[in-house]
Formats: sequence, structure tokens, C-alpha cells
Amino acid sequence: MSDRIPQDFIDDLVQRIDIGEIIGNRIDIKKAGKEYKANCPFHGEKTPSFTVSPEKGFYHCFGCGAHGTALGFLMEYERLTFIEAIEELAKTVGVDVPKTKEDKIKNKRNISLKELLSEVSAHYTSNLSQSKEAINYLKDRGIDGKNAKYFSLGFSNNSWSEILDTFGASEKDKQKLLDSGLIIKKDDGGFYDRFRNRIMFPIKDNRGDVLGFGGRIIGNDEPKYLNSPETALFRKGELLYGLFESKEGIGKTKSAIIVEGYTDVIALQKYGFNTALATLGTATTEYHIRKMFRTIDEITFCFDGDKAGYKAALKAMELSLPLVKTNKEVNFLILKKGQDPDEMIKSDGSDAFNTSLNNAYSLDQFLIEVMRDKYNTETIKGKANAIEDGMSLLSKVKEGIYKDLLIENFSNEYKLNENQIKRFYEDTNQKRDNSKRSFRNRPGKKKLGLRPSLIKQAISILLHYPNILKDIVVEDCLSHIDEKGIDILKEIINLTQGKDSIRLATILEHFQDKKTQQHLQNLSLETLMIKESEIENEFQDILKRLYILSNKTEMKTLMKKASQNKLTKLEKNRFIELSANIKIK
Ligand code: UTP
Ligand code: MN
Repeated sequence: MSDRIPQDFIDDLVQRIDIGEIIGNRIDIKKAGKEYKANCPFHGEKTPSFTVSPEKGFYHCFGCGAHGTALGFLMEYERLTFIEAIEELAKTVGVDVPKTKEDKIKNKRNISLKELLSEVSAHYTSNLSQSKEAINYLKDRGIDGKNAKYFSLGFSNNSWSEILDTFGASEKDKQKLLDSGLIIKKDDGGFYDRFRNRIMFPIKDNRGDVLGFGGRIIGNDEPKYLNSPETALFRKGELLYGLFESKEGIGKTKSAIIVEGYTDVIALQKYGFNTALATLGTATTEYHIRKMFRTIDEITFCFDGDKAGYKAALKAMELSLPLVKTNKEVNFLILKKGQDPDEMIKSDGSDAFNTSLNNAYSLDQFLIEVMRDKYNTETIKGKANAIEDGMSLLSKVKEGIYKDLLIENFSNEYKLNENQIKRFYEDTNQKRDNSKRSFRNRPGKKKLGLRPSLIKQAISILLHYPNILKDIVVEDCLSHIDEKGIDILKEIINLTQGKDSIRLATILEHFQDKKTQQHLQNLSLETLMIKESEIENEFQDILKRLYILSNKTEMKTLMKKASQNKLTKLEKNRFIELSANIKIK
């Protein structure tokens, strides 16, 4: 069960969502009767075996066995977390995801930390306007007043306690300073300012709220750059420098340039490149790329012309592979030896930089470059290694035209013939198919020959015909049954009772426990061996037998109590009532 979002909100959302629209917005699907068909996005195929049923709110691939609801599709296809997928669905139908009490408390605390960070940022800015040394330092680097103001640059004075003294009057204030990473606790219990004698770069989210700082020392002390530590607000693996400042440019062009340093972002902005973002002294993460690709179509990684820059580009390429597709592209610009974007644009100018950008390697070109760099492709062995390595990297790309073209391009480079390419395709697909198949047919689970339990039959009917309880009232007397699955059955009955438009997906997503959900999904995929005209009778019959079972169990309990002379008056009446109706075996 989600500890954040109320289950009835999820139930309602899944019920309202049109899975055809959700999937149709992401892959090519074609209407086929009541359903849609498509080439499965999860395995390579040329004839469509991927089926989407809006009626059930469910998709299923007969080729590779992939299946699930719209929620599951988003998690799998877009690699979203559960919460992100819920938020995405909520956006589609235009509702807000409700917040729990804990969420509200956390929210309030975060707002108060943001207010503090914004006040401290203003304090640093005011310090800068009063420090000749800091202003001169920036001027020497080509950062003028306008430039500094646009990025809200500031200065932390060379003091151990200026921030502590100004913003940490009470214990509560000190705690807030500590929680936002602005002061550090000493071993003897006192505190001191984290940032001293540094140019301060406030790091904002795309709304403009300050979440943390980077600070560059003036002069040659170590470390050159100091960043806020990880805090509740400041997550280096998720944030990027320039999100707010480059928001407009990125929004307009649907593209971004990722660089390594804060000063690179600032210099590029000054020279008219207003789509730059920098990582926060850490490597690019999958989260970064995934998040960017949700709103933009093209990322250019522009890294320094040194070993570290090249390594960073390699890492970015590997992370990008599973996330690229048609209209979600990555490029790589590795600068000349020893240069970073800041220096390059200042020395060569914006036209030169623009030319370099336009000549940046596309993913396929970069891959070939990397292989050329890594192996001696003049030799057969080197060439074989390059092909193996390159193809196995390309196999990470999602199935689709884009992948086909990448592979085609790569195989042209190495003059691979169709048979050789095919072998790679089949190898990678087979591996994937095998893993799915063995998962689905895990041995030892099925009890052959035994009839499925009443409860399982009832659940199965409800999954195939979720609206069967529109007119059937299930009596509230299944409560004495104590058999496997009864809680799930009762839960499904509660959910579907009296409703005439519940979908399979709504039932499945009602159960957020992975094991249960998987179990129900499998059950829903089994063919029901009952004629449609017989369903209602069959279900009524199962219910009757369940009532009897419940009564019998209750009777047994009462008999045990009776033998110990412990029956209350009510229980005695119930005992008489039951014994009139059923015989105990
Ligand atoms: P660089 O040293 O390449 O940055 O580090 P830069 O912009 O070229 O530095 P200067 O000011 O022009 O000399 C790139 C990024 O790596 C992180 C910072 O985020 C910086 O922007 N970094 C660098 C640190 O976190 N700590 C360091 O000591 C150095
Ligand atoms: Mn630099």
C-alpha cells in the first residue's frame, strides 16, 4: 500500500484513465475492434502482438508476456517511480494528487527552510555589492554586474560566524541553519559557518526557490569549490545548476546544454546561449536525463577537454542509451584539450562555439568514436571487440525505428552484413524472452489436478467480469472464513459492489502489494472456462457455497465455546439458528 497517496484516490484515478490514450500518446497503436494493437515496445517484433484493452484498462503482449495497467506501463516504459506515474496520470485527467498529513508537515518544514535560504542568499548578494575584492574577482573573470545579478551571485565574507550570528538567534533557528547545510556543528557542541570567503552561487529549482549553494574560493585555497551538503531540499543527483535561469531558453528550444561548471553556465548565458545547465560537482545521473527528457527533446553534453570530461561523457552516453528514441536525442561535444566552455567562449567567441555545437557528435557518431578510441580497429581482434562492445551498448536502446537506424549506421561503419546483424538482434531478444518466460512459468507453483479453490474461482470471475456485482448483493457473512485469499476477495467485493463501470485495472491497482498484484494479474490473464451466459449463475453458486462454508466455520467455533460453557446469550441464539439450517460433518 502506498504510504503517501490514499488508495481511494488511486482507485478513482485508474478507473478514470483511458489506457488507450496513455499508451497511444507514447507508441503507435492501431484500433482493432474494441481494442488496440501495436508492435510491442518491450521486445523486438515485426508483427503486432501487443494488445491494449480500454475496457479492461489493461495491456498484454502475447509475444513476450509483458502486461499491466496504464500505471504499470508508465513505470515500465518511461521508467517512472510509482509516485511519478501517479502524478503523470493525475496530470492527464487534470487533478491534483492529494497530500497526506505527513506530507503537509514536511511541506511546511521545507517552505520554512526555503525562506531561510532565500534570506541568506539575499544577504550574500548584499555582501557582494559591498566587497570590492569580490566584485573585482568576478570582473576579472568576465562576469559583470548584470551577469551577476541574473544569477543572484553573492559573497560570503571571511567570517566563521556571520551567518550563524545573523540568522541563528534561537536554538530553533540554529537547527534550521544546520538542516539547510549553512552551518557545521563542532565537536564541542558549537557551530561555525560553512561558507567563508567564497563567491556564492545559489542553486535554484525551476521555480526559482534557492535549495542550496555552491561557493568558489577567492584565491587559491582548497577546496576550490564547496557545495551545500545533501539536505532534505538539496539533492545533487536530481538538481542542476541553471534550472531557473535557463528555464525560458530551454522551454523555447526544447533542448539543453549540459556542462560541468557553474561558471560555464554563466559564461554561456552571457554570450547568448541560454539553455545551459551544470551538474553539481557530481556525475550526470539517470534521474537527470529522465527528468529532462520529460520536457525537452535534445540534450547536448558539453564537457571539458580533459580525461575527466571524456569519462563524464562516456558515463552520460551509457545512461542515455535506454532513454533515447526518435525525438529524444543526445549529442556530445568534447572540447579541445585543456578547454572548458567558459574559456572557449571567452577566447573564441559565440560563433565558434555555435559551430562546435552544430558539429557535436550525435549518439551514433559518438559511439563509433568511442570504439575507435577504445580499440585498435585496424586489427581483426580489435574490430571484433569494437563490434561486440558497440552492439551490446546499442541493445540497451528501446526497440523502435530509432534503434534500427542506430544499428544500421553502426553496422555500416563496420561493414556488417545482414546475417551478422541479425545474430545480435536475436541474441539480445532471446535473452530477454528467456528471462520473461522462465519468470512466468516458474515451476512448482501449480498444483496440478486440484480444482481451484472457491475463493480463487470467485476472484477470477470478478477480475474477468468486474461489473458482475452491479445487481448482486453479497451478504456480509463471509467474515468467518479463514482461508487463503479471503481478504483479497472481500476487498474486491467491497470495491466493486453496486458499481457498473469498474475496470480490471482499477482492481489490480487497488492492491499495491507487489506479490498480490502480480498474482491477480496472472489470474486475470488465465482464460475463464465458463460461458458468458453462465457467469452470473456460476458466481451465485460460488457465493452460496461460500456462505455455507462461513456458517460451518462459525458453527464450529460456537460448538467449541458451548462445550466449555462459554456462550453468551446472543451466541446461544445464533447457535440455535445455525443448527436449524446446517448439518455439521
Ligand atoms: P572545474 O574546476 O572544471 O570548474 O569544476 P571551473 O568552472 O572550470 O572552475 P573555475 O572557477 O573556472 O576555476 C567543475 C565543477 O566541479 C565542481 C563544481 O561544481 C564546479 O563547478 N567542483 C570543482 C567541486 O565541487 N569542487 C572542486 O573543488 C572543484
Ligand atoms: Mn573554468
